[in-house]
Amino acid sequence: MKILVLNGPNLNMLGIREPDIYGSSTYDDLVNLITSHCEKKDIEVKCLQSNHEGDLVDYIQQAFFDKVDGIVINPGAYTHTSVALLDALKAVMIPAVEVHISKVNEREAFRQVSYVSYYCSKTITGKGFDGYIEAIDYLCGQE
Ligand code: DQA
Repeated sequence: MKILVLNGPNLNMLGIREPDIYGSSTYDDLVNLITSHCEKKDIEVKCLQSNHEGDLVDYIQQAFFDKVDGIVINPGAYTHTSVALLDALKAVMIPAVEVHISKVNEREAFRQVSYVSYYCSKTITGKGFDGYIEAIDYLCGQE
């Protein structure tokens, strides 16, 4: 299995940004957690992060040419605004799971809309970094 883990804007600021909401662990901690989990399970994984919507679209499109089997995506704030990310996922037709570190459903009204959820087969919220692991295992049929 080949998995792409995609994180959107401000997720590189984990550990610094709003630790009461997102915790004190960093983006590097997240990548290390994912990498060691995938090593144990013999899953090939690539973790990418960008603050730019177009980069995220490019990464999703590239996943098609790289024959990626599953995408775990936390689009950050683009969750609530980006039809472009939804269309990119629909274009490549790679199974995808949406992850949010925080309990978005208990937060502001503007966070209650998710465009990528129109495509993703599962949405995991409020489980912190464990949500990414759950998403990977789900995509690999190990849940
Ligand atoms: C987030 C929730 C979004 O509303 C927010 O804009 C983020 C992070 C989460 O992981 O909880 O940047 O996707």
